Amino acid sequence: MTSAVSRRGFINTAGVAASVCAVGAGPRQAPARVISSGNGAAATERAYQLLLEGADTADAVVAGVGLVEDDPRDTSVGYGGLPNEHGIVELDAAVMHGPSHQCGAVASLQGFRHPAQVALKVMRRTDHVLLVGSGARKFARAHGFVEENLLTDHARRIWLRWKESLSKEDDWLSDEEQEDAAVRDFFLKNSVMTANGSLRFRRPTGTIHCSCLNAAGQMSCTTTTSGMAFKIPGRVGDSPIIGAGLYVDNEVGSCGSTGRGEANLQNQASFAAVELMRGGASPEEAGMEVLRRIAAKTVARLRDQEGRPDFQLSFYVMSKDGEYAGVSMFPGLKFAVTDEQGTRLEPCVALYEAR
Ligand code: GLY
Repeated sequence: MTSAVSRRGFINTAGVAASVCAVGAGPRQAPARVISSGNGAAATERAYQLLLEGADTADAVVAGVGLVEDDPRDTSVGYGGLPNEHGIVELDAAVMHGPSHQCGAVASLQGFRHPAQVALKVMRRTDHVLLVGSGARKFARAHGFVEENLLTDHARRIWLRWKESLSKEDDWLSDEEQEDAAVRDFFLKNSVMTANGSLRFRRPTGTIHCSCLNAAGQMSCTTTTSGMAFKIPGRVGDSPIIGAGLYVDNEVGSCGSTGRGEANLQNQASFAAVELMRGGASPEEAGMEVLRRIAAKTVARLRDQEGRPDFQLSFYVMSKDGEYAGVSMFPGLKFAVTDEQGTRLEPCVALYEAR
């Protein structure tokens, strides 16, 4: 046993090779490469193309994730993201630029589908790092971003079903005769079987993170999200918090995350992973160590019967030399990579066996 966490269920990762890639002769000879969470294959491809065209690394990742922010099928990011408990979409995002070590972020931003672009503007056109709520909204308006309703009908129906299922004592009644298959599938996909055989819905915390390295050894990263579904209005997750949901040090490497943001906020997880790499850890070792630290610090109410965290969390880690890894608390997740070998999804290495 290590602290309160049972070692039973750990996957033995010894011998599991990190996704090590060809590293050139010198420290700054790495090939261009872009990695992201598994929902980001289009993003890595776009960002990589922009890097080849000579784009700045921050512009490349922000443009890449913009494709996912635009996509209403992804209910964890941008337009079509799941709303807060009042049915209003609130977005968080940050961008960090390795060469200048500058960053910008927005939190609880309503009405603009590209929070990562607004975050980039905060970085470039203010003396600040983080704008929130109505201030972020006014700033986006001032810079000409187009305001719109981000709540799609699909997201609204998911939110409504969640609201109607909260209590038998309130006045919100579900329409049991007209079950919506897409909405039912959503709830099934996001539920886990409990020990007593019932299904428990777990609120999604999907997000997209994207990190890149260009051929000149410059790195940048961004994370953008609609945050935890049905959150308390004003809840800010890890994604817009530098050091929690993303971090890059151009002399060391980059890390970003998807999953339960509170765990990253409590552990400064992305900063920790980069610092572990500074101390000599590989991207996989750094990400796994951060997962172990988070598991050890998880409160009892968020543990399963085996003492493991009952939430999913992933890190996408890349060193300045282009070595990279995706790691997750539990198996089943993939991450996207684009480099000279093309675009592909690779499996995340998991800390624990399947739940
Ligand atoms: N990782 C996304 C969130 O918790 O908001």
